[in-house]
Amino acid sequence: MHTLHFQEIDSTSTYLKRNYENLPNLTFVSASFQTNGHGRYDRKWISNKEEDLLFSLLIKDKKYIDDFSSLSIKSAVAIIKVLEDIYKIDNVSLKWPNDVFINDKKVCGILLESISNDNNIDCLIVGIGLNVNSSDFKGDFRICPTSLQEVMKKPLEIDLLKKHAYESLIDQLDNNDYLEFVRKHNYLKGKTVYSNVGKITVKDIDDNNNLVAEKDNQIIHLNTGEISFHLE
Ligand code: BTN
Repeated sequence: MHTLHFQEIDSTSTYLKRNYENLPNLTFVSASFQTNGHGRYDRKWISNKEEDLLFSLLIKDKKYIDDFSSLSIKSAVAIIKVLEDIYKIDNVSLKWPNDVFINDKKVCGILLESISNDNNIDCLIVGIGLNVNSSDFKGDFRICPTSLQEVMKKPLEIDLLKKHAYESLIDQLDNNDYLEFVRKHNYLKGKTVYSNVGKITVKDIDDNNNLVAEKDNQIIHLNTGEISFHLE
């Protein structure tokens, strides 16, 4: 297990992008503060100092790289399991493809990035931002955020949570039986939402981690994209 912690860094994921060649598989990098954290679609991911859990995991093992389509969903499963099993939080769900929700609010964002050379993926970087003790939320978010403190009405110890998150993530990497769990935690199921192909009604998640939805009376399978609740 190779773990690194920074009091302050530009971004834990960017750190891994710069240094992956010299770091072992499953290097785990966390930070108390990021000066240039980023999320999906190049949005800023802003957290206050020492209030949230910010970390990235480096994946170099070919067996995980080959199965990359499941990686962001498995990472979300890892976080959901920690929140449900250890912190006993109710109404935790996965907003496909990789947000963790509590009730109707986003508590955790996951960003999967890859570094490729000559059409080969050299490594994957899973970046996770979990709102822990924050109460004022900054950054470019489309969905109302929440934090664990807001839900549990008490502050949480970030180092302990980090340990649970790391262990759960490592556990989930080898779990190939996660889809039933994901289907039971599918926040979007039954909802009519907007996707990159227009208005859809979500039905399920298929065996390839794709979203199954109905559009104009036809069943479609989406493998990526952003789902929103309003036309933007
Ligand atoms: C999203 O919901 O858009 C994904 C957000 C991912 C944020 C995390 S925080 C740790 C890691 N470092 C980054 O710069 N981004 C990810």
